[in-house]
This record gives sequence, C-alpha cells and structure tokens, in this order.
Amino acid sequence: MTRKPLHPSTIAAQGLGWTDAATGAVVLPVHTATTFLRDRDNQYRRGRSYGRADNPSYDQPQAVLTALEGGAASLLFSSGMAAAAGVFQCLPRNSHMVAPRVMYWGLRSWLKNFAAAWGIDVEFVDTTSPDALRRAVRARQTRLVWIETPANPLWSVTDIAVAGEIAHAAGAILAVDSTAATPVLTRPLALGADLVMHSATKYLNGHSDVIAGTLTTAGEDAFWERLCAVRSSGGAILGSFEAYLLLRGMRTLFPRVEGACQSAQRIAEALSHNPHILEVLYPGLPEHPGHAIAARQMTDGFGGMLSVRVRGGADAAIATAARVEIWKRATSLGGVESLIEHRASVEGADSPVPADLLRLSVGIENPDDLAADLECALDSRAF
Ligand SMILES: Cc1ncc(COP(=O)(O)O)c(C=O)c1O
Repeated sequence: MTRKPLHPSTIAAQGLGWTDAATGAVVLPVHTATTFLRDRDNQYRRGRSYGRADNPSYDQPQAVLTALEGGAASLLFSSGMAAAAGVFQCLPRNSHMVAPRVMYWGLRSWLKNFAAAWGIDVEFVDTTSPDALRRAVRARQTRLVWIETPANPLWSVTDIAVAGEIAHAAGAILAVDSTAATPVLTRPLALGADLVMHSATKYLNGHSDVIAGTLTTAGEDAFWERLCAVRSSGGAILGSFEAYLLLRGMRTLFPRVEGACQSAQRIAEALSHNPHILEVLYPGLPEHPGHAIAARQMTDGFGGMLSVRVRGGADAAIATAARVEIWKRATSLGGVESLIEHRASVEGADSPVPADLLRLSVGIENPDDLAADLECALDSRAF
C-alpha cells in the first residue's frame, strides 16, 4: 500500500519527524555556537561559518514552516517588524508600493516614518476592493503589493488570489501578512502570493514568551537572495533559545488554532446578540463583508481574533475592559491566554479604528468561561 502525504497537523506535531542522528534524541539540541570550524584546506564544507549568517537551530523551525506554507524556503527574524522591514528594505530605490489602509499599526507607522528615506513611495488603499487595488498599481513602477488578511484590528478580508493577479499584471510581487490566519487556516502561496510573513510572536509561538518573525517564499529567486543577505548582513536574527521555543510552540499550532477558532466563533455569535454591543467584527459571521471570501480562502475556521464595538463610546469600552477577570488587559495576540485591548488608546490619530472598539484575542480557555466573563463586564448595571 502506498502512503498518502502527511497532513500538515502531523508535520507540525512531529516537527517533520526530525531526530538527532548522534544521540537518537527526539528533540534536537539547541546550538549556541557563534562560529564554526574551517576545514584544513580553508573551506567551509559543512556549510556554516558564523552565527549571524548560519544557525543550525533555525533549520528545523524554518523547514517546518516551509512545509506548512507549501513554500520553497523560510527565514526566521528577530521580530515580525524586522521580517516586514526586511522586505521593504530589499526594494530598489524609487519603488512604488501599495499597502492596506487597515493593517497592523506598527507596520503602517514604519511605512509612514521610514519608507521615504529608503526611496519607497507608499500608497495606502482599501485592498479589500479589487477596483481600488487595480487603480493603485502602476505598471513597471509598483514593485510590491503588501496585504494583510484578516487585517488587524478590523479583521477585513482581502482576496489573495485577486490581489496576486493584480500585482503580477503590473510586474509587482505580492506579500501577505498572514499572522492572524496562520498556515492552519490559509496558505497564501497556493493562492498566488510570492511571500508570506508572520509575526511568529503570535500564533506560531503561541505562548507570549518569544518575539520573532518569519518570511516564506514561493521560489528562491533573486529577491529571496537579497532577503537572505539583508538578514545576515543587517543582523536581525533570532537567538538560538528563542528558535527552540518557537519550534516547540509550532508543534502545538494546530490544536491551539483550531480551539481558538471554535471559541472565537461561539463568542462572536453570542456577542452579536448582546444589547451592549453595537457591532461584532469577525469574518466567521455571515454578515461580515469579507465572509464569502474568507469562507473560500480560509479552511477550518475564521481565526481566533475578533473585535467588538461597545455601545456608549470609548468610555464604555474602556470600562468594559476594566471589569473582565479572566481576559487579560494586554496588547498582542495569538497566545494561549485570552487578551482584551482598547485599540484606539494604542494606535494614534491616523488609525482607522473606532474609539469604541475592543480587540479580543481568544485563547484556549473554556469558551463558556470567556463568554460569561465578557457578558458580566458588559452588563449595563456595571456602568
Ligand atoms: C498582524 C501583525 N503583523 C506584524 C506584527 C509585528 O510583529 P512583532 O511584534 O513580532 O514585531 C504584529 C504585532 O502585533 C501583528 O499583529
């Protein structure tokens, strides 16, 4: 009987099944060396010379991620921001790029503050609208279309396949910040993207104890070679212990994300009937404007992230966050513990986020406990 290809969840759980050839250990050792031996004839036949460029502790997490994304190669970075900024820094001078109006605010702020100094002209558009995207790209001038889907923190959904067609027709590459979707739910490269980026700080690691970023490429082309050089010469590298922790987190990625998706769907449905809630923003709800596209390009769930708009404005939203007991009032997302955050307090004046919005990162606690905690906090008697 011929064996079928393994499910991605098996690949993740076993870390591709790698074991240590020397000892038989089922967990590979953490390599801490910063430098590697030369051969007597002055060659580096084992392929590694110095820790900024080469780290054996990256091999397994990069290979697992490459397999999960269906790509050709991956790179670990010291943060999601470093991974994304690496892509921008690889663009030739006088490039035009397109970015979403709704995106992780830290990246928007990098583009607003630093892109011009790198010679990049950035146009922010509503990437959920194919017409707006088509109008924004400039033939032979646009080098990069950057999208994020679902996009933090309104969870708007961009059609990856359509964005890929538009980018490629203009001669640009398409890069997707897939942090919220994770490879469990979406494989952007199979839909036509050229690069996938993750803040691995979030779901890939999943335990709120590592800051890391990743890039995965569809092909090892000249742009990828530049990205490898940007990391090794710029030095935005991950520590060996962090790479080990990241791999450990990735091995439980599937059950964590699947659990978070189921709970988020339940919580979104429950809150959409709550009289203190003006609007629930979650792609898993049929009334969400991106629901049909999300149902097509996301498999097995709509993610563990949702946002709610609280009746009564910013004060009511902040008061609600103040009254929860199980949810933790903290920034970030994708950890095993559920987090709640008033986003307008974080994002600044140019953010598209309404003042009454609370962002919810659903963890793996019991969903009844999470829903009950929010419902108590929202109860009008509390205000
Ligand atoms: C969607 C998204 N992209 C990128 C980042 C940046 O990642 P990091 O904090 O790992 O630098 C974040 C961080 O919150 C994020 O949510």
